[in-house]
Amino acid sequence: MHSITLKQVEDIVRESSSLMVRDGFAVKEKGTLENIVTTSDLAVQEFLTERLAKLLPGSGFLCEEEDLADLSHPYVWIIDPIDGTANYARGNENCCISVALVKDWIPQMGVVYSPWRGELYCAEKGKGAFCNGKPIKVSERPFEDGILFSAMSTYRKEFAKTCRDIIYDLYMECNDFRRCGSAAVELCQVAAGYADLYFEIRLMPWDYAAASLILREAGGFICDFNGEFPSLTHPSLVIAANRESSGRRIFDTVRRHLDAIPY
Ligand code: IPD
Ligand code: CA
Ligand code: CA
Repeated sequence: MHSITLKQVEDIVRESSSLMVRDGFAVKEKGTLENIVTTSDLAVQEFLTERLAKLLPGSGFLCEEEDLADLSHPYVWIIDPIDGTANYARGNENCCISVALVKDWIPQMGVVYSPWRGELYCAEKGKGAFCNGKPIKVSERPFEDGILFSAMSTYRKEFAKTCRDIIYDLYMECNDFRRCGSAAVELCQVAAGYADLYFEIRLMPWDYAAASLILREAGGFICDFNGEFPSLTHPSLVIAANRESSGRRIFDTVRRHLDAIPY
């Protein structure tokens, strides 16, 4: 068993955020105009991997940038150095650093820090979820009054029509929908009760590894296309909600439009 504390991880994440500079960074496309990386993403990732490797010697890494995947260890850090890079590059506050520690692919700790929003969400397995040190809990709103966060599959636009149809059906039955452009921020917003429902057709593990623990520790529900906890080793469809019954309604809607995962 490791002996590191959540506070140590939080401090390292906070420190790394000084690399999310307001300007002076360079932007590069990763295949399509929508999918970009900035020099800040790379700098944050390098800082985090160096510091977290020292904090927990012998741990592995699964990181978004530069295909960094060193998985042959019981403890693995799953890192999105900047989630919401398109927002970051535009000076939009909806971006964050997402760091999870998993043991045998079960999340143990999660930190999602959105410096420009001034929100640090964190959780440790079995110990509750917090935002800026205060305990958070999902809302008690029924599905009909739920605010849905969703997206149109930005990097794989061939799924957009399916997303549109799913979002339309959900929208007609819930209160309203939103898109903020950072999956981790959106899932933490559900954890804190600022929104209630979530659906995205394809996310990567670093988008939701930390936020999935924060959401579950806040009393929320998260599942994949099969109704199970989303894989932390492969891309996944992600459904989340303040309560299981609402998550199941999203699940049923998704299954009406999709017979199988289209990737
Ligand atoms: C993206 C954001 C976005 C979600 C995409 C993600 P990135 O992450 O979380 O909200 O819709 O699916 O890939 O590319 O900004 O790290
Ligand atoms: Ca991301
Ligand atoms: Ca990213």
